[in-house]
Amino acid sequence: MTSTLNLTPDELAAGQDLDQLKQLVGLVDYDADKDPFPVTGWDAIVFVSGNATQSALYYQSAWGMELVAYSGPETGNRDHKSFVLKSGSIRFVINGAVDPDSPLVEHHRKHGDGVVDIALEVPDVDKCIAQAKAAGATVVREPEDVTDEHGTIRIGAIATYGETIHTLVDRSRYDGPYLPGYVAQQSNYLPRPGQPKRLFQALDHIVGNVELGKMDEWVAFYNRVMGFVNMAEFIGDDIATDYSALMSKVVANGNHRVKFPLNEPAIAKKKSQIDEYLEFYRGAGAQHLAVATGDIIASVDALRANGVEFLDTPDSYYEDPELRARIGEVRVPVEELQRRGILVDRDEDGYLLQIFTKPLGDRPTVFFELIERHGSLGFGKGNFKALFEAIEREQDRRGNL
Ligand SMILES: [Fe+2]
Repeated sequence: MTSTLNLTPDELAAGQDLDQLKQLVGLVDYDADKDPFPVTGWDAIVFVSGNATQSALYYQSAWGMELVAYSGPETGNRDHKSFVLKSGSIRFVINGAVDPDSPLVEHHRKHGDGVVDIALEVPDVDKCIAQAKAAGATVVREPEDVTDEHGTIRIGAIATYGETIHTLVDRSRYDGPYLPGYVAQQSNYLPRPGQPKRLFQALDHIVGNVELGKMDEWVAFYNRVMGFVNMAEFIGDDIATDYSALMSKVVANGNHRVKFPLNEPAIAKKKSQIDEYLEFYRGAGAQHLAVATGDIIASVDALRANGVEFLDTPDSYYEDPELRARIGEVRVPVEELQRRGILVDRDEDGYLLQIFTKPLGDRPTVFFELIERHGSLGFGKGNFKALFEAIEREQDRRGNL
């Protein structure tokens, strides 16, 4: 058996250890030899922005990320600017068009700000692409070597839901700041004094919203093409409010670093939040990114001070005697959670703390979740009703319910 319980270079560079990661993102061991499509973990989350120059500053000033690399006209990339930011072991890449004829312009016109590429680190790009082809996936980039003075990466890509892709990267022979063509870059931005060094350390999961009736197709895609396993299943009443509903299933890679809940709208009295997303994103796409923190209290306080807006949680959520009975002992008093609107859920393995932002951009599409896990490998099922009611209040204010 080939154990995959090794730290990735990004995790090592972030000073993480295995026990920490097991708690932070629910990392598990598994036998990679039997995996037709071995995935080590996340490589990068690539966003398209209407103004990457300003978005890159937002992720530094609001989310405490650090600029590490850049590509743009000054480096010979005349099509677009690309800013690479890190927080702990996770990497965001923010792309924005420079050339008015860049394909990013049309992509942004259609979808707005959003995630175009959920790039994954794999030990064998060719094996993954061959498996994807054999399983009927669309290959959007054949495996190739790309080289610069920092070494060589092996890279390929497959299509997933909507216009989203999974780039597959083997960077074991590369020590540059990101990919060939990028230069190391730092910014002059100084974080607020007293702010924690990092507001999040890793990425926990990315939720995909797909069209009505398509959830099972995409679950099957991740099972068949990428060898992902089904983690949990939430259907029907679990996640219905009085007005709107959705269905959700969760797939994960073997070591559970990469977790993809997949949502589709369900028929209800009013328009589902998933329908609102699909309408404004013009199709299927990534809905929310859950970033993991070891101290959600400190992170939320810093994010609020930096101007990030979170969904409100009504006091009735905390005053419900059932909640207190359900969650038992957690590491902070419930009053501390209530003051910040942080949700809590418990299952047979432990508990988790979580909170959700309002949409990050102009369209009601992509948002973030902060999650602090204490043994629970779930996704906050017990909070879905409270969360969705909070989302519906916002949806109603936008005139979209
Ligand atoms: Fe989530």
